Amino acid sequence: MTVGEHRTNLNNTDDYLLNIEKLAERITGCDYKYHIITYGCQMNVYDSEKLAGMLENMGYFQTEDKNEADIILFNTCCVRDHAEQRVYGNIGMLKKQKIKNPNLLIGVCGCMMQQKGVAEGIVKKFPFVDLVFGTHNLHEFPKLLLEALDTAHAIVEVSEHGDQKENITPIKRSSRISSWVTIMYGCDNFCSYCIVPYVRGREQSRNQAEILLEIENLAKEGFREVFLLGQNVNSYKGQDDYLFHDLLEDINKVEGIERIRFISSHPKDLSPKLIEAFESCDKLCEHIHLPIQSGSDLVLEKMNRKYTREDYLKLIHRIRNLSKPIAVTTDIIAGFPGETERDFEDTLSLLEEVRFDAAFTFMYSPRKGTPAAELADQTEHYVKKKRLDLLNKTQAEISKNINQKYKDMVLEVMVEGVSKNNADMFSGRTRTNKLVNFKAENLLPGYMADVRITTAKAWTLEGVLV
Ligand code: 5AD
Ligand code: SF4
Repeated sequence: MTVGEHRTNLNNTDDYLLNIEKLAERITGCDYKYHIITYGCQMNVYDSEKLAGMLENMGYFQTEDKNEADIILFNTCCVRDHAEQRVYGNIGMLKKQKIKNPNLLIGVCGCMMQQKGVAEGIVKKFPFVDLVFGTHNLHEFPKLLLEALDTAHAIVEVSEHGDQKENITPIKRSSRISSWVTIMYGCDNFCSYCIVPYVRGREQSRNQAEILLEIENLAKEGFREVFLLGQNVNSYKGQDDYLFHDLLEDINKVEGIERIRFISSHPKDLSPKLIEAFESCDKLCEHIHLPIQSGSDLVLEKMNRKYTREDYLKLIHRIRNLSKPIAVTTDIIAGFPGETERDFEDTLSLLEEVRFDAAFTFMYSPRKGTPAAELADQTEHYVKKKRLDLLNKTQAEISKNINQKYKDMVLEVMVEGVSKNNADMFSGRTRTNKLVNFKAENLLPGYMADVRITTAKAWTLEGVLV
């Protein structure tokens, strides 16, 4: 077993391509299949697209059925305990499949592996796992896979620091219309509850020329929407004082791209220039995800969020003063250590005051190694659950109410495909990121449909093509 720490220059483009070639020689023509199970945020979804891209370059085919797979990868998340427990449960369930098919290769990667002792713990607990690697080792996957195919014991490679080789990693985009583009990696904010800075490392922005080239190429391939990704896109710093709003303005000029979205934004870094970009960039969609986490100043301070409720409300005010309505969504944590009833009421009142289009709500989950996990006054589970339920109930009312205003309006919907829940319907998103299901025939993904809204629910809209 090898555990690589502080390793740099492990690979270069030549090594990478050589390893892909070696694998292609072994795999092409064998009809081997791969299955990837992804947990967590968009960043992980994107990493899985890269893993899929590499596997297909080697000659593997994708399968939705893990029972017929020759290689199964778990791309893990450690932001909350719930996701971690699901990973352990699901790896455990593969033991029988591995006994039936000893040639099955099982790999585990992603954020969980970056936590101290987890990678070693996985191979100890599940000796049938063949390969374990961290988020910083993604581009080493071909080399590690080669080793795993030829070795009886588990291959483990988890580096503490990353050398992002995105430009040489092929990507199997899950959509032909909308594409994720990472503009920065890591996070420097150290919110006291959050594990991300420990597992994804310090902020690293990609060079603007490289990003723009990637987007120009996506446009040439027919992609119409780009989704810019980063833990905190507002603190993007390209070369020569080039900031996030500069990048938006340049992407806005790329021919063929019709919609630009981004996620996620930290309120402390949301500059007036960025807010103005909603006016100056016509392709920038009218939606911002702006996590508040709590409506109580005391809790915000303990969370190390570096803004107050008042600061946040001022930003909302600025956004609502723009010439067009912008949908605002947020994240909220219920039951942070020491959160009193009064603090919680402040969060509830904030929901009413801001009236978000949607809120993603989470029960606080202590993460080992973060300052908040060490706080003595942890909130009891039943209190967290009760508060979470109340948040969800309050927000559902607000969202439903906000959506009513869309009734009878005609909205531009970018078609994603046939609706997941109803084969007679198509679904797509408005510029404000609302999911719309509507009746139509033979529409291709990417088509911009004009849809008259007939029914408005809390989380979806329904309508008819006009
Ligand atoms: N417990 C609960 N929620 C968390 N989040 C991050 N860390 C934790 C944690 N330890 C939530 C935050 C963040 C979102 C992606 O996940 O709300 O914005
Ligand atoms: Fe975590 Fe805070 Fe960074 Fe978001 S900004 S990834 S919550 S540390």
